[in-house]
Amino acid sequence: MSIIFSGIQPSGNLTLGNYLGALRNFAKVQDGNECYYCVVNQHAITVPQDPQMLHARTRQLAAIYLAAGLDPDQSTLFVQSEVPEHVQLGWIMTTLSYVGELERMTQYKDKAAKRGDSIPAGLLTYPPLMAADILLYQTELVPVGDDQKQHMEITRDLAQRFNRLYGEVFTIPDILLAHDGTRVMSLQEPTKKMSKSDENQTATIYLLDEPKDIEKKIKRAQTDSENAVRYDVKAKPGISNLMDIYAAVTDQSHEEIEAAYAGKGYGSFKKDVADAVISVLEPIQQRYAALVATPELDDVLTKGAAKAHAKAAATYENVIRAMGLYR
Ligand code: TYM
Repeated sequence: MSIIFSGIQPSGNLTLGNYLGALRNFAKVQDGNECYYCVVNQHAITVPQDPQMLHARTRQLAAIYLAAGLDPDQSTLFVQSEVPEHVQLGWIMTTLSYVGELERMTQYKDKAAKRGDSIPAGLLTYPPLMAADILLYQTELVPVGDDQKQHMEITRDLAQRFNRLYGEVFTIPDILLAHDGTRVMSLQEPTKKMSKSDENQTATIYLLDEPKDIEKKIKRAQTDSENAVRYDVKAKPGISNLMDIYAAVTDQSHEEIEAAYAGKGYGSFKKDVADAVISVLEPIQQRYAALVATPELDDVLTKGAAKAHAKAAATYENVIRAMGLYR
């Protein structure tokens, strides 16, 4: 049995990237493990959020977790801001972090570049809060997409730094990548990852997109003029991205896909990619619609916060004892 933790920010509508890179695996690993899945709303406020939107998206994300197969009897599902130890340990992790190592994070550099002269300090101190999320539960495995590798490395560094200074309090967590390591790219700029904060809506497939929109977006996805379904990320990033998506949703290899579409053009391939994506997302959308406005969802989150809090408080107590941070 392993302890597993992961989180998603309610900072925009979830994308196919979030699903294939992370969310899909949350349900797969829950059997026989102790799992914690969090709506990390305090991470979301590292960039400005509209209060009503943030509130609505927090609830929507929790419903999507359940719709994607999380079983509240097996996994603990909760909202970060309802367990105060996250920011408490986050502060301690901030004091253990070096400005230089935080400034080297690519996610920080990307997000800071969009903020001109007014870079919120929370963007810089995002990784120590993420480390706190993970370390509070004595987590062993963290299922995330490969864009989170750097954040996982700093989490391990901070845990080791703390243990060296104050004694063995934290378990050192490992990253758990999806077996196919899918990084879903933008449909319009396939050298850039698909992101919930992309302003170009045609570049992104959202989990709750209508089937006709999914079809339209995939049909318009950037490809090349060769018209041959062949995997080559460098020379053909657009078609390779569609092949990655198709491989992930149909469980086929690139070779199998190339063989099946030999001599056929992009039109028929794109149609099949769209159908396959729709058939995976439609059942999730139906479960989501049935759940999002129910009191059962609140019940799951209230119980989840209590369970998470019990575990987090025990670790936090060990932390403040080890540091002398008590009266
Ligand atoms: P967030 O909300 O940006 O993304 C949630 C998860 O989706 C994965 N992901 C992708 N995977 C494949 N292709 C893509 N295009 C793609 N876009 C996003 C991310 O890797 C992630 O697993 N820092 C985290 C949130 C977080 C967290 C944590 C995660 C805060 N505390 C503790 C794990 C443990 C993030 O930015 O997720």
